[in-house]
Amino acid sequence: MEQRDTPAKKGRFEFLKMKKEGVKLTWVTAYDYPIAHFAEEAGIDMILVGDSLGMVVYGYEGTIPVTMDECLIHCRAVRRGAPHTFVVGDMPFLSYQVTVGDAITNAGRFLKEAGMDAIKLEGGRRVVDKIRGIVDAGILVIGHIGLTPQSSGQLGGFKAQGRTAASAEELIRDALAIQEAGAFALLLEAVPPELGKAISELLDIPVYGIGAGKYTDGQLLINGDMLGYFDAFTPKFVKKYANLAKVITDAMRNYVDEVHSGAFPGPEHSYSVLKEELEAFKSVVQKYKNANGIQK
Ligand code: KIV
Repeated sequence: MEQRDTPAKKGRFEFLKMKKEGVKLTWVTAYDYPIAHFAEEAGIDMILVGDSLGMVVYGYEGTIPVTMDECLIHCRAVRRGAPHTFVVGDMPFLSYQVTVGDAITNAGRFLKEAGMDAIKLEGGRRVVDKIRGIVDAGILVIGHIGLTPQSSGQLGGFKAQGRTAASAEELIRDALAIQEAGAFALLLEAVPPELGKAISELLDIPVYGIGAGKYTDGQLLINGDMLGYFDAFTPKFVKKYANLAKVITDAMRNYVDEVHSGAFPGPEHSYSVLKEELEAFKSVVQKYKNANGIQK
């Protein structure tokens, strides 16, 4: 592979500068070493080890069953794959909602045990005490409001938010409270572009969007969606940049066909017996064939 100079890892101050200068940030999820490596190679600014791994990697119906241990395993793999990229660990359901103490301890595990640069957690005003506690412990926090998958039951499903004036106002109040609590960035999910624009302009911290229109300070996509290999469902806001499901299935079918037809493996995929050993090798094989009554 071509060797390239590794750009310096960006952090919160570079992200703030990007916002001020109107440079959009690129953010994708990754759950494993290879995708993290490709994301870094492609020049992605930030990686999220999302609890969406529950659906994309483990085949759960939602993110509720995801555990801290599952998240940490994937965070470690991503860290190894993208050592020069800002990587965010996503706090799973019930790892931060119960007490501020739990929230700090679990947030700290992402840094101590998996080398994460920051954590993300879902919720607005109702979690600001947890955000404040984690920030006071010296940990970088990203807030996440709008469609928050961990509370999709309360939201009535995976539905867009902030489509009425009243709901938009709730989200604006949440966004301001999250900034006030010390988060260094905010993620907005599945809201109208007008609200994405308003919140990005109202806040001093960077506001990133997934399904929040083009005016936010950067964009996030789930890699299984944008690479086209997670097809349980595809939200409206997804653009598929590849169709890996087809690439992978076609490749597997091809392999099945070639094994059945004898086209694979060919001589170019096989090891040869050392030339000077060939006669001795044949004798050994023949000895065992004779002993076992095999004629061929
Ligand atoms: O877990 C995740 O990937 C996320 C996105 C849905 C924003 O939180």
